[in-house]
Parts: sequence; structure tokens; C-alpha cells
Amino acid sequence: MRQQSTRRVTVLGRKAVVGVVPVAVAALLATAGPASAGTTGASGAGDPYFPFAGNGGYHVSHYGLTLDYDPASRHLTGKAVLTARATARLTRFDLDLKGLKITGLTVDRHKAAFRRSGQELVVTPRHALREGQAFRVTVTYSGTPGPVTDPDGSLDGWIPTDDGAFVAGEPQGAMTWFPADNHPKDKSSYDFTITVPEGRAAVANGVYLGRRTAHGRTTYRWRQSEPMAAYLATATVGKFKVEQYTTRDGIKVYNAVDPREAAAAAPVLKKLPSVLEWESKVFGPYPFRAAGAIVDHAPNVGYALETQTRPIYDAAPDLSTLVHESAHQWFGDSVSLTSWKDIWLNEGFATYAEWLYSEQHGGDSAQKTFDGLYARPAGDDLWAYPPADPGSGANIFGTPVYARGAMALHELRTAVGDRTFYRILRAWAGEHRAGHGTTAQFERLAERESGKNLDKLFKTWLYSTGKPNRP
Ligand code: ARG
Ligand code: ZN
Repeated sequence: MRQQSTRRVTVLGRKAVVGVVPVAVAALLATAGPASAGTTGASGAGDPYFPFAGNGGYHVSHYGLTLDYDPASRHLTGKAVLTARATARLTRFDLDLKGLKITGLTVDRHKAAFRRSGQELVVTPRHALREGQAFRVTVTYSGTPGPVTDPDGSLDGWIPTDDGAFVAGEPQGAMTWFPADNHPKDKSSYDFTITVPEGRAAVANGVYLGRRTAHGRTTYRWRQSEPMAAYLATATVGKFKVEQYTTRDGIKVYNAVDPREAAAAAPVLKKLPSVLEWESKVFGPYPFRAAGAIVDHAPNVGYALETQTRPIYDAAPDLSTLVHESAHQWFGDSVSLTSWKDIWLNEGFATYAEWLYSEQHGGDSAQKTFDGLYARPAGDDLWAYPPADPGSGANIFGTPVYARGAMALHELRTAVGDRTFYRILRAWAGEHRAGHGTTAQFERLAERESGKNLDKLFKTWLYSTGKPNRP
């Protein structure tokens, strides 16, 4: 899906125009808008919770990231080559990048002017870009990257560890290590070339292409060919034990495990192929050609993230966390958000996947899990705000989004019956595969597949504050 740009029109060059054309024409040009005027790409993608996330006026189809990281000095050098297309005439556009020093910036091989303003890297190419024009931005940069703190207080982005870095980006952190159009509205393919000291590994998304060691430095290459949102990119560095194999379905698995977590992680990671197989049965075909896990030892992080194809864990995960992050590959990664407000489409679904897995593997039924949550008193946090309207970026990873979001799906299942419910899940993953979805689209799809009016159910479970009456 294309990025929707919010255009801000400025009338640049008007004076010059007045000097060379008749006054009547000049007046016309001055009011003609984007065709004749200069346009600047918006500084945000229009997200109400993260107004500066993403940008307007272009779409990135590919990122080529070449990184060199030295864990001892925590120094990073980077080169990012973005292949993009203008969705409006642009005299200026923004990228998102926080910290680091820019050592060079070109647009189509011409040196471009730039300035930094908060997380915005404001680029003025030598020549204006035409609407529809393909262009290439090359940014070289270096410095000591560090994390940002999310509105919920957790660390996000490039998070140094004792042997490398835990690299995660939801919702904001991608901009701490590469210049990006940092909003899930814009999805792109990626190539990574990452150099680290010999003995360390650099693990990114997608298919492992190989490594080469020279002069005590090892370069790892990775390719993420299916479209990916910037927040799902990783370039995690550390001392890792590596395991590689191909599943029966032909998925290329690459697991990287911190040796300190290896004993605890082994029995859970062994289940990855069967978890993916089960999820493929329930949700439809696995959406990527690669899979795996990064199990780091990062005690200051406190969460796992569904980095595309290869979720990252801050410590050895338990089985339900593995099921959760794997389910995100369908719900959140393949089917992406267009607004962070819709986060329950990621977290409610991944949580409900845990309930279904348990139900079908000898654990509690989803009904039992639902009942346990429903028993919580009206004053419990669970009922504090509606899953589909959490109200701010600080609430997007809260209990109402995860648990009540899953409860909403369970209510849907109860209302439409199992057969229809599973058909809805597969239709959602299938029809929006490698794309985007909104809550409104999900509601319409559920009504279409079930032939039922589900307004009241969604209103109660997704949009209302407080504990709903007994269903
Ligand atoms: N999406 C992750 C999960 O539930 C959680 C990420 C939390 N990130 C944060 N900045 N709090 O699997
Ligand atoms: Zn999740």
C-alpha cells in the first residue's frame, strides 16, 4: 500500500516566475498548487500517537544498509541507500533519524543539503523531485547509537549489551540506527551487510546470505525480500551459538542464541517448526521464506519483539512467548498497521494465538482463559481503556490491548462459531498478506464472512471503556 502523504504546499520560486512570464500567467501559477509550486514532504505520516513518525511525499521500496559496529567502543558507522519514489512533487522531504552524525548525503548522486530538527532529517535535494519520480538517497553516518525511551518507559532502538547490541524498534526505535521512513504505513525490502569483530555475530531479518572474515572482522549478509516495516528491522550483535536448518515446508531457519541462555532456550526453540506448522494450519501459509529466533541476554530490556522472520527475545522465552511472537509474523508483520491506534490487531491476535495454542495442545481452553480474565473486578486495569482506542502511545502495550483484545476475538468466535471464526482469521491474513489492515476493515471482513451484523459486539469489546456486561 502506498504512503498517504499529507501535503504542505509552499509557493517557492514565485518571484522568479513573475520576472519572466506575463502577470496573468504568474498569478495563475502562484495559485495552481502542487503542479507548479514547491512542495515539502510532511514531517509525519499522520499518526495521532506519533506525529513525527514516518514522513509524507514518498514511499521507500528498498533499504540497503551497510553497518560496522564495534561493541568495545560502541561505535557504529553506517551507510543507508534508500530507493524511493515521490508521491508528490518535492523540493524537500524528511527522513527520521535520531542522534548520530551525518557524514554525507546525496540524492541521485548529487550532494543534497540537509538539516537536523529533533528526529527529522530534513533533506533538500539539488533538483526538485517530480511526482512519481524514482530516486535514491544515500546517507553515510557514524556515532554512538543508543536507545530511545518509549512513552511506556521501555528502552527501544539500539540497546547496547555486554557483548554487542539488542536491536529492536517498536514503535520508534528504528531511527536510532538508520535513516528511515519510520512508520508501518511504508513497507520495504531490505539488504543488510554488517561487519563486527571476529567471534561476534550480526543477525538481521530474512535469509542468511553468508559471512566472510578478513583481518579479524566478520561481515554478515542478510536479505529481507518481503516488505517489512522499519520497526521490525534488527541488526542484533553479540556472541551467539548459531543453528540453521530448513523446515519440511522449505522455510529457512536461523537461530542465534546467547550461550548463557542456550540451556533454557533449547527445549522451546526445538518446538519452533511445529509451532510454525500449527500456525500455518490455523492462519494460512507462513508469509515469509525465512524464520528463526534471536535469543539474547539483555536483562535491561524486559520484552520480546516480533522482528520480521526472526523474533528477538531478551532472554530464553517460554513456549507461549514463542507462540505469540510467531503469530505476529502473520498478524503485525505480514498484515501491518496503518495507525498505531490499531495495535490490538497485532497484540490481541498474537495473544489469542497463545490461547488457541494452549487449547489445542492439552492446556486451558480459550473459554477458560476468557472466564479467568472476565472474573477480574470492574476496577481492574484490564477494563481501563478500549483496545481499539487506547488513547495514547503510552497505552499501546497495555493489558486492555493484549488481553481484552484477545477477549474481543473470543467473543467474535463465540458469536460466529468455530468454522466461520477460523475462516475469518485466514481471510484476514490472506487478503492483507504483505500489506496493511485497519480495524474497520477487519470488522467488515468479519461481517462479510459471517453474514452477521457485529456492530454491537465490536462496540462493546473494542471501543468501550469499563467492564462489559456478562456476554
Ligand atoms: N510487540 C511486542 C510484543 O508484544 C512488545 C513490544 C514492546 N515494546 C515496547 N516498547 N514496550 O510481542
Ligand atoms: Zn505482541
